[in-house]
Amino acid sequence: MATILIVEDEPKMLRLLELNLAEDGYTTLAAADAEDALKLLRREKVDLIVTDLKLPGMNGLEFLQAAKRTNAALPVVVMTAYGTVETAVEAMKAGASDFVLKPFSLEEIKLVVRKELDVHQLREENRDLREALGRRYEFKNIVAHSPRMQEVLATVERVATTNATVLLGGESGVGKDLIARAIHQHSRRASGPFIKINCTAIPENLLESELFGYEKGAFTGAATSKPGKFELADKGSIFLDEIGDVPPAIQVKLLRVLQEREFERLGGTRTLKVDVRLIAATNRDLRAALEDGTFREDLYYRLNVVPISIPPLREHKEDIPYLVDHFVERFVRESGKPITGVTPAAVRVLTDFHWPGNVRELENIIERAVALSTGTVLDVGDIYLDFRPGAMGAVATGAVAASGSAAQSIPFPPDGMTLEQFEDEIIREALRRSAGNKSHAARLLGLSRNALRYRLSKMGVPDEPEA
Ligand SMILES: Nc1ncnc2c1ncn2[C@@H]1O[C@H](COP(=O)(O)OP(=O)(O)OP(=O)(O)O)[C@@H](O)[C@H]1O
Ligand SMILES: [Mg+2]
Repeated sequence: MATILIVEDEPKMLRLLELNLAEDGYTTLAAADAEDALKLLRREKVDLIVTDLKLPGMNGLEFLQAAKRTNAALPVVVMTAYGTVETAVEAMKAGASDFVLKPFSLEEIKLVVRKELDVHQLREENRDLREALGRRYEFKNIVAHSPRMQEVLATVERVATTNATVLLGGESGVGKDLIARAIHQHSRRASGPFIKINCTAIPENLLESELFGYEKGAFTGAATSKPGKFELADKGSIFLDEIGDVPPAIQVKLLRVLQEREFERLGGTRTLKVDVRLIAATNRDLRAALEDGTFREDLYYRLNVVPISIPPLREHKEDIPYLVDHFVERFVRESGKPITGVTPAAVRVLTDFHWPGNVRELENIIERAVALSTGTVLDVGDIYLDFRPGAMGAVATGAVAASGSAAQSIPFPPDGMTLEQFEDEIIREALRRSAGNKSHAARLLGLSRNALRYRLSKMGVPDEPEA
């Protein structure tokens, strides 16, 4: 069980804390001033400090800094009287992990202690895991300290040197582009071209000629002939982004390129052979598209040779502090602003957020913070998180910001509506947004198709076959 050092000059308070924390099973050490506390710190193994900010002699803030010098990773919870929030903020900047305002309930302090110990333990475990992995995968410009992202990089390294087709999956903004480029850069084709094409951004009638090129006179307006992306990518890699949105007619042609590595330009008769490595990406669940019949099964299996699924940011939060440093460093360099870092409190706000827009959203938030900041460190007040319902596609959020800002509007059931009725409304809205397509609606809601059908049957919506 963890050992907690309590530093408090008020004897009654000290006793109360000792009793209550001991009751929760912690071993406690007590000190009435900073000097004594520092002595104990040098002698004993301490897992967490709870300290008053107002102490006789060396004050709480100085003590905090001294304690952090003995062990920077040691969590320190400060207690401070109501009305001295500024001091609490100072303490957070100096490295306190959390604070409680006096008077507080014993439940409150126990909760904070528990949480800080858990976070601390997670960090330690993480570090151990990383060390156990032995070898760390490092790629330029990719932040990947978490075991989940290390796994992704391990796969990237393993497949990069092969010619295998890679299918990258993951929500918007998780880093599919970044990983696609890394695969190319670490392949034997690195000196060849990397050609990207976004299948959604291009209208169907143009997509075909973009991919395969055309001969003069192939269609009205084709005054000259033009090579397509596949030709341009010869000896290199082609990256087909949003492959899930490729229309069926073009899916057939892609299948042929994948099988035979050959195709004809539009309006051409000559068969062209290319040496291309294909990397595809999608933020849709292609298996659901298979069920819908909107995506060809044979093409899917050709693409899905090496699937790499990149986790959403909320599933590898350990990377957030590193990503924050990475982006701050970059935007400070680009803007020339005199910013030296981010306060622990701000990092915590960023770590607590649920990031519906993933790394891209984090990147944008940091860019904005650096651009608007007038100080030399980014603090909680510089971080503007987007809590709008539906922001980046999230319907409702369970996020709680540590910033305490009241402006966040998480959608709330209107007066008189129960939670269940409200959920039904959200389900109807999803059906409207997806024009009645249940697979699509299920994706919007993060439900499986069967779970959605079950909900709909409970709501009394008839289960009609889809058009
Ligand atoms: N692990 C990471 N380390 C550093 N930067 C990252 C990381 N992951 C993503 N980024 C950055 O976040 C931004 C979004 O990443 P990227 O464009 O690769 O996402 P995506 O999955 O392709 O998104 P979309 O589905 O919207 O196309 C980019 O600027 C990228 O450089
Ligand atoms: Mg992308």
